[in-house]
Amino acid sequence: ESQKTSSPAEYDFVVVSNRLPVDCTVEDDGSLTWKRSPGGLVTALEPIMKKADGAWVGWAGKPDLEVEPFQNEGIQIIPVPLSTQDIEEYYEGFSNDTLWPLYHDVIAPPAYHREWWDDYVAVNQRFADATAAISADGAVVWVQDYQLQLVPRMLREQRPDLTIGFFNHIPFPPYGIFAQLPWRTQIIEGMLGADVVGFQRSSDASNFSSAVRRLTNHPTKNPAIEVTIEGQPTRRVVAKAFPISIDARSFEELARDPAIQQRARDIRKGLGNPKTVMFGVDRLDYTKGIRHRLKAYGELLRDGSIEVGDVALIQVASPSRERVEAYMHLRDEIELTVGRINGEFSTLSHAPINYLHQGFPREEMVALYLAADVLLVTALRDGMNLVAKEYVAARFDNDGVLILSEFAGASEELRKALLINPHDIDGLKDAMLRAVNMPKADRATRMRSMRKRVLDHDVERWSNAFLKNLAATRSDRHRRIAP
Ligand code: G6P
Repeated sequence: ESQKTSSPAEYDFVVVSNRLPVDCTVEDDGSLTWKRSPGGLVTALEPIMKKADGAWVGWAGKPDLEVEPFQNEGIQIIPVPLSTQDIEEYYEGFSNDTLWPLYHDVIAPPAYHREWWDDYVAVNQRFADATAAISADGAVVWVQDYQLQLVPRMLREQRPDLTIGFFNHIPFPPYGIFAQLPWRTQIIEGMLGADVVGFQRSSDASNFSSAVRRLTNHPTKNPAIEVTIEGQPTRRVVAKAFPISIDARSFEELARDPAIQQRARDIRKGLGNPKTVMFGVDRLDYTKGIRHRLKAYGELLRDGSIEVGDVALIQVASPSRERVEAYMHLRDEIELTVGRINGEFSTLSHAPINYLHQGFPREEMVALYLAADVLLVTALRDGMNLVAKEYVAARFDNDGVLILSEFAGASEELRKALLINPHDIDGLKDAMLRAVNMPKADRATRMRSMRKRVLDHDVERWSNAFLKNLAATRSDRHRRIAP
């Protein structure tokens, strides 16, 4: 199905995110094929998109790719091109080497470069323009994440008729950290272009409100902020928490598939059927605490608290942002550590760590979840951490132990996990041993309670809650504008 009209089409519901929900592959003959990338966000929004004449604006993931809008599995795709320079400055630079470390407790030092900022502004303007051009009169536009924080205001300047939502998927830092950013006021004003600004946790929302109070004159009265921009009527912006989730049923469904269960048994068998399989799966990112996890595990082996052959750790670290220096260093550090631990403790038949620097399809992930007695989520800071929720959703057998960092947003909901402070290596080791030795009945009680939470609070409920709040601000606005 291709676009029939030459004038830009108009959509009533528009999602804007850095990455499109489809991945582009260039075939040998130079033609392009598109595959849906399985994210919770697309799954949740797909029905709304189909019902409401929706479109998705974003980058196709390759440099300099100029593609006309097209349909993919019933979703209208509006590609926004990024040049090689944009990828360096807007994506790898300002988004992932300035904002990402700044918003994650400066675990890595953020770099501040004025050229990066200039390109971030330019690319955000490009996204705003593309969105303004295809949005119907009075459309609802939902902008996603830290790469696009200026888009809400840019959009409102061109299109005051739109209802605009913004959701920040990563943490929003305390003012003492946020204040480092040379362009802090522009970022805040950018986000305040939205009618609803959503965050993962209430602490993120209150950090945002503090920044608003420190940097602007807009009065705040939680969760509302009264925004006055010269020449425009005062607007009420709502800033609050909407903890994101996953398409929980689809994970459970995969886990119930006999072929995937067989695959889980084969995985364990391949490891020599150890008593305990521990599992970690993360994008290879310094926020995930992979080094802390390996340190604790290495010490347990050294202490003799666990033994090779009895326990095996699978660590999947999927390649991510590989041209950003902090990520290259981290990879070197992790691979050195894995090599050292395996070198010291492997036997000719067993390795303590099975390290995979690869991404895997969802089916294989679910098989790994079923194979894992213990899931390790040791993030130093994480907006939510959906891996924790995926593990819980997959364990319909009410078994498995989740070790979960207090610094992941998911810890606010999954109170029955073994909650840990990843900086406290002894505490982490204790939790790992406790997980290895936990009686089945205790595992079941905890997993049952966590499953109830995740299955009730799935991603559909999340998007409905956000969009309901957004719709409420719209009727509020119309009431006040009406004579
Ligand atoms: C985090 C961010 C997303 C981002 C994802 C993958 O979850 O919140 O916005 O898409 O990481 O990172 P990437 O840089 O590959 O898009």
